[in-house]
Amino acid sequence: MNIGIDKIGFYTPDQYVDMEKLAEKRGVEPAKYTIGIGQERMAVAPLHEDAVSMAANAALSILDEEDRKKIDLVLFGTESGVDHSKSGAVWVHHLTDIQENAGSFELKQACYGATAGIKMAMGHIALNPESKALILGADIAKYGLNTSGEPTQGAGAVAMVLSSDPRILALDNDSASLTKDISDFWRPLYSDYAFVDGKYSNEAYLSFLKDVWGKYKEKTARDLKDFEAVCFHLPYTKMAKKALLSLTENAPEEDAERLMGHYQNSIAYNKQVGNVYTGSLYLSMLSLLEQSEELAEGSRIGLFSYGSGAVGEFFSGVVQPGYKKFLNKEAHESLLDSRQELSIDEYEELLEKSLPKDGSDSETDTDKMKKGKAYLTGIKDNLRKYEVK
Ligand code: HMG
Repeated sequence: MNIGIDKIGFYTPDQYVDMEKLAEKRGVEPAKYTIGIGQERMAVAPLHEDAVSMAANAALSILDEEDRKKIDLVLFGTESGVDHSKSGAVWVHHLTDIQENAGSFELKQACYGATAGIKMAMGHIALNPESKALILGADIAKYGLNTSGEPTQGAGAVAMVLSSDPRILALDNDSASLTKDISDFWRPLYSDYAFVDGKYSNEAYLSFLKDVWGKYKEKTARDLKDFEAVCFHLPYTKMAKKALLSLTENAPEEDAERLMGHYQNSIAYNKQVGNVYTGSLYLSMLSLLEQSEELAEGSRIGLFSYGSGAVGEFFSGVVQPGYKKFLNKEAHESLLDSRQELSIDEYEELLEKSLPKDGSDSETDTDKMKKGKAYLTGIKDNLRKYEVK
């Protein structure tokens, strides 16, 4: 029985910053951000959007009545959780009107959280072939103003329905993982901003890739020739180029060319959004599937997931016949194209704002909400309140 991704949707807030303008304001050559880092625009979340509302919006864009009846597992990978106890999955379960007899919880391991959800859901569906699972990855990436991580911020969510006989990507049941206790990137409970050792994080990412790709090859006897394309966790799009160059260093030219040929399509959406942490790998995969010509039936795609701290995993899947019919290219392009540009002053003011942390009530200004359906209306009696329009 094949198990894999049957539906996939994404959501990002209505507003963005232009990277060339941010570079000018920071006194940096714009090419450093657009070519050196590889980002054109960076999504910025307003106060009425958080990981929960963004995940709900991504899910609402794909779920139908049959999904709502069949989903019995809601798994939410995030490192932007809004409560130490209650999981975002429970709110999303409610906001998306999924039948009551489902299990729902949150998973955390930096950007690896949504991958952990996928692995768990595969086991669940193998035991319960009629079930479906909703996997969410939603985050707001924040390093702060004038930091070296600033051009690698972003905000957004990916939602996937996993099922047996999936219509988009059948996942292979063989993967290779690696866990090492390292401090390349972390966010203590008291901080809104991530701490990062930037150069070390790049090195750790590449060394995890080398390790898990080596183990995956040993386990499966597959090599680069067996892959039509490889998608990577994308903290910024230049990282995928570094990753591809390291994978193909000693590869035959035709394999290197084919894999590099898919690079632009696999970064098209991420370049416009920035890092969305747990959803980044899946946003890249969605970008590849929607922006490239239809891939031949049976094409295998490699997937590299990396969550700082750190856990890495290489796994793979095979595109399903007619998969293009089950994607939403136009809706996703329109979501990206219809956003409003923030001036750098507006962005700076917004980045430093947050909802009260002292227990006082607060209402958000939802007048500007255009694309999303779910939003955070505020905090009352220490509880976050959400609504679906
Ligand atoms: P930096 O020190 O400001 O940048 O930080 P740099 O000096 O290394 O320059 C970046 C690139 O721009 C270089 O290219 C320069 O040569 C180039 P590279 O050598 O890397 O190929 N450059 C130019 N190119 C064209 N024209 C120019 C020009 N000037 C310079 N004029 C850094 C960069 C990524 C370290 C920083 O932004 C950062 O710390 N970001 C956050 C950490 C991060 O994203 N790490 C990635 C790996 S870890 C990961 O992916 C996990 C993560 O998602 C978290 C999680 O798991 O939850 C982060």
